[in-house]
Amino acid sequence: MDSLQYIHGYSSTEFRRLQDQAQTLTTLLHHDTLYPPQTRVLEAGCGIGAQTLILAKNNPQTQIVSLDISSESIKTARASIDEVGYSNVSFLHGDLFSLPIKDEAFDHIFVCFVLEHLPNPKKALDCLKSVLKTGGSLTVIEGDHGSAYFHPDSQAAKKTIQCLIDLQAQTGGNALIGRQLYPLLSSARYRNIHVSPRMVYADASFPKMVEGFTKNTFNAMIEGVKEQAISAKMIKEKEWEDGIRDLYRTREKDGVFCYTFFKAIGIK
Ligand SMILES: C[S@@+](CC[C@H](N)C(=O)[O-])C[C@H]1O[C@@H](n2cnc3c(N)ncnc32)[C@H](O)[C@@H]1O
Repeated sequence: MDSLQYIHGYSSTEFRRLQDQAQTLTTLLHHDTLYPPQTRVLEAGCGIGAQTLILAKNNPQTQIVSLDISSESIKTARASIDEVGYSNVSFLHGDLFSLPIKDEAFDHIFVCFVLEHLPNPKKALDCLKSVLKTGGSLTVIEGDHGSAYFHPDSQAAKKTIQCLIDLQAQTGGNALIGRQLYPLLSSARYRNIHVSPRMVYADASFPKMVEGFTKNTFNAMIEGVKEQAISAKMIKEKEWEDGIRDLYRTREKDGVFCYTFFKAIGIK
C-alpha cells in the first residue's frame, strides 16, 4: 500500500496546515523533545516532515529515521530537510504495522498526530515497541477535539467540530484520543508513563496564536471536511456556513479559543 485514506487527505492545503500547526506549536509541544547525542530516534508517521524539521534542528547530534506509509509525503519531507541542509535525518517508506526494521533498533520513538487516524492504536504501540530498545522511550503527541471551547460560544460551531469527530470515527480513527493516551500506553505495557496536557490559549493579545492556531490550524482543519460532512448528510450547508462563521468569530478582538494537546512519554 502506498498510502492510506485518512480524513485530512494529502492535498497541498493540508501540507500547509501541517506546517503552520508545527511552527505555531513548536515551543508548547517541543521545548522538551530533546534526545541525548548519538542516539537513534524513529519518527513514525512523519508526513511531510513538519515535525521532522523541529526534531532535527533541536537534536543535531541524534540520528533520526522518519517513516511514513505515503511515498509522496516522504518525498516532500526529504525535500524540506535537504533545503535546510540537515544531515541527521534519513527517510524510510513503510507501514508502522509491519516495520521493515530489526527488533530493538531504536533508542527512542516519536509519534505525533498519527494514532488518532488508526483503527487500532494499541496494536500500533505494540508494533513500535518491538523496534524500541528495552529502557528506551516512546513519545506520543495527540490532540483531542473535545477539548475545544471558545468565546463567543456557538452551537453551530460545535456542530461543525462534531462532524469532524464523527467522520474520523467512520474511518476508524478517534479525534478524542488525547485523553486516552495514558490508558493506551498502559495497555501496551509501557512503564513510567507520564502525560502532560498542553493547552493552547488564543486571544487578541496573542496574535500569532490566533493566526497560526485558531485560523490556520484548527479552523482550516474543520473547513477541510466540509464536502465530506455535507455529502454524509451530517449537516446542512447553511448550518455548516454558520458554524464556520462562528469559529472565525472567535478570532475577533473580543474572541477566545482554547484547545488542549496531550504529550505522553512511556518507557519500554
Ligand atoms: C496527520 S499526519 C501527521 C504527520 C506528522 N507527524 C505531523 O505531525 O505533521 C499523519 C501521518 O501518518 C501517516 N500514517 C498513517 N498510517 C500509517 C501507517 N500505518 N504507517 C506509517 N505511516 C502512517 C500518514 O500517511 C500521515 O502522513
